[in-house]
Amino acid sequence: MAIKIKTLKEIQGIRKSAQLAGKCLKYLEQFAVPGNTTQFINDKALEFMKEHGAVSATLGYNGFKGAICTSPNDVICHGVPGPYVLKDGDILNIDVTTVLNGYYGDTCKMYEIGTVTDEAKELIDVTKECLRIGMKECYPGNRFGNIGYAISEFAHNKGYSVVYEFCGHGVGLKFHEEPEVAHIAPKNSGKRMRPGMIFTIEPMINQGKARAKVDQSDGWTARTIDGKLSAQFEHTILITETGFEALTDVYGDF
Ligand code: MF3
Ligand code: CO
Ligand code: CO
Repeated sequence: MAIKIKTLKEIQGIRKSAQLAGKCLKYLEQFAVPGNTTQFINDKALEFMKEHGAVSATLGYNGFKGAICTSPNDVICHGVPGPYVLKDGDILNIDVTTVLNGYYGDTCKMYEIGTVTDEAKELIDVTKECLRIGMKECYPGNRFGNIGYAISEFAHNKGYSVVYEFCGHGVGLKFHEEPEVAHIAPKNSGKRMRPGMIFTIEPMINQGKARAKVDQSDGWTARTIDGKLSAQFEHTILITETGFEALTDVYGDF
């Protein structure tokens, strides 16, 4: 199957949704503090989406019960919001996927809860840099595999492992479209990027082993097998004539 080239109208719609998702992450910063539950943050996110005329893509998605994903500490991704109380020193990933006028925007970032260790800080910094490095590979004619090649070379050099069981993905008209965007891949592998393609890059980087294990209790929460920390950043990326636009990077952090 071919990777969809979005029309101008579709791009405009997806950009709006993506920007809203980015703004939602910023809005949630004030709530990512010790003492709050992940359920509380979930409810604030849902309120924000509603107020802006959007719905959550994750709520009810294959039975997922959250309006966002909240993934603390050793949770790699797909953490289900609930009674977990955030405590000083936690690191937390929040992943927001909005549907606005039928268009999808998908982004996530890390939050430091109170004061975190230098080790945790370094993991977060390296993971953010992994996304930046992946974004640098985004231009017409380049192959998707070079995103994963660049990310994994950097992460491994820093002594971290790259989660391979979850990938980035085409996005925009549906939640998950082609292609799969691997965060570890052979150089010059995969299809070529073309203007109008929209997809996510969302590296998950682990302190310890790369392997993920999904909790039996909810069928979603993916944890590191060794209990060590994991971090993730995600942007929705549009390939342009000359390079890329990070549609969810509303505050120019990248
Ligand atoms: N937003 C996640 C992603 O980046 C997917 C979450 S699916 C859910 O692809 F069901 F777990 F919410
Ligand atoms: Co995604
Ligand atoms: Co996401």
